[in-house]
Amino acid sequence: MEISLVGKKALVGGSSGGIGKAIAIQLAECGASVTLMSRSLEKLKAIVASLPTNLGQQHGFLQVDFNDFRGYQEILHNFFKDNQIDILVNNTQGPSAGNALEKKVGDYQEAFDLLFKTTVITTELALKNMISNNWGRIINVASVSVKEPLSYLALSNSIRAAVVTWGKSLATDVGKHKITVNSVLTGYFDTDRIAQLNTKKAEQLGIDVSKVRADMESRVPLKRIGNPKEYGYLAAFLASDKAAYITGTQIPIDGGLLKSL
Ligand SMILES: NC(=O)c1ccc[n+]([C@@H]2O[C@H](COP(=O)([O-])OP(=O)(O)OC[C@H]3O[C@@H](n4cnc5c(N)ncnc54)[C@H](OP(=O)(O)O)[C@@H]3O)[C@@H](O)[C@H]2O)c1
Repeated sequence: MEISLVGKKALVGGSSGGIGKAIAIQLAECGASVTLMSRSLEKLKAIVASLPTNLGQQHGFLQVDFNDFRGYQEILHNFFKDNQIDILVNNTQGPSAGNALEKKVGDYQEAFDLLFKTTVITTELALKNMISNNWGRIINVASVSVKEPLSYLALSNSIRAAVVTWGKSLATDVGKHKITVNSVLTGYFDTDRIAQLNTKKAEQLGIDVSKVRADMESRVPLKRIGNPKEYGYLAAFLASDKAAYITGTQIPIDGGLLKSL
């Protein structure tokens, strides 16, 4: 099976590192022209320069801050005045860690703006072209926490559930336009985010960070943390014509971590 995204244009959130970068690389390797989004200008420039162009791809980037909803909205509005997107990967940084007793109502509002509102506005803007083209792919980077809430991530647990439910609703509404909407339930992946969370946990418990990582790995049936590249493979498949009959799903990629069906 060959996955070709030649001629497709993709917009990928949080793609100067971690999961977003791995997705951007796979989409580009399959032939898509990719627009990256993140805060760091230097990283964005370097990644754009490193992406393949052998299939006529033209890559670019938007320097955005998901924490500044107004600014983000303006940049995206301007982008969509002159650009069209076939494949949208909704991926932002995760909300801050902490348990439900620590988090206040304002924290939930911030997490809602960061995770839910940015996803909805980007999708709203991208959909216009997808509907007129009768083709589109929307992939939401979510978490296993929507099925089994994770301890110490009350904000993420709450708001990601909203994103995934919204995605399911949207899939029903846009199916007639041959647009698919799928959410990926992320397990543990070897990225800066996981390294930071592990360091914080190790400090709190007063143990070495390697112990935190070993404990994490031991909880995964496949006994390892995922390689972001493996995430990119799934995203490239979902973005392709080969996945035309897959929509409204919540697909775990977690090495078997989820205990529930
Ligand atoms: N890794 C895991 O195991 C795991 C598990 C479950 C869920 N997730 C979720 O999956 C998503 C991606 O995680 P990851 O592990 O790939 O994270 P990561 O390694 O921290 O990468 C985050 C990416 O987002 C960008 N970014 C961060 N804050 C931003 C902001 N305010 N505005 C614009 N861009 C921003 C970063 O670039 P700049 O710093 O240059 O902006 C980077 O490109 C997150 O929502 C995370 O919570 C991850």
